[in-house]
Amino acid sequence: MLYLLLIPFAALLWVVYYWLFIVTEGLYLGQRVVVWLYDWYAPRYDGIKQYVTEEEQVLVVEPLLGELGRVSRPLILDVATGTGRVPYFLLQDGRLTRRLHGRIIGLEPAGQMLAQAVANTQPFSAEGGLDWVQQTAVPLPFPSATFDALTCLEALEFLPDESAAVREMVRVLKPGAPLLLTRRTGWEARLFIGRYRTRPAFAAWLATFGLTDVVIVDWQSNYDLVIGRKAAVSHKP
Ligand SMILES: C[S@@+](CC[C@H](N)C(=O)[O-])C[C@H]1O[C@@H](n2cnc3c(N)ncnc32)[C@H](O)[C@@H]1O
Repeated sequence: MLYLLLIPFAALLWVVYYWLFIVTEGLYLGQRVVVWLYDWYAPRYDGIKQYVTEEEQVLVVEPLLGELGRVSRPLILDVATGTGRVPYFLLQDGRLTRRLHGRIIGLEPAGQMLAQAVANTQPFSAEGGLDWVQQTAVPLPFPSATFDALTCLEALEFLPDESAAVREMVRVLKPGAPLLLTRRTGWEARLFIGRYRTRPAFAAWLATFGLTDVVIVDWQSNYDLVIGRKAAVSHKP
């Protein structure tokens, strides 16, 4: 009879484990746990994600270069770069470095993820145009109004203080420069308790940080792409 009582207990444990470690990836256990889990995932991360060049061209490279426009020698920051997805596909495309003579900085707190990012982008290392910073998103170690564009993909929901992170991202952008974020979607998005926002609520929330022209579109499985611009006139939330 005792084993019949153990079944619901084991099911409850599994649900809590799934919520805490699989869906929200340690978020509710603190930043150290999130970073530790990513260090642990790092050797398997690219194998799980299986990024495909043609898809990344459409999902990442074209939207970013399209928003950037014809800025000369642009400087881009990729917050929570992971294994270097944004730098890798931008460098592989070549327009940022060869045509625009721009640079990208990948910022990432998990050392093992960053090590994988460095290894992934090794084929482009001779071309320059790439730097790494091991650091969390708050505070960003850059002066205000430094970057011509900023990306933060598939990461905002794992940051301990989303508002502080967006405030920092907007601070380091130049006035008028684009910010490309992602918004978690699907049923699992609602498991980020206290953080889930509908599309209109997400856009309204971003506006409080001085972002204008916010557009939210379908993107990849489980995520929307969110594009906004730092207001040309400085704005304090
Ligand atoms: C799902 S991955 C996304 C990586 C990459 N942007 C991509 O699209 O492949 C989330 C990343 O956020 C990073 N991260 C977690 N906490 C962070 C923090 N406080 N500041 C910056 N990055 C953080 C993780 O280490 C992880 O590499």
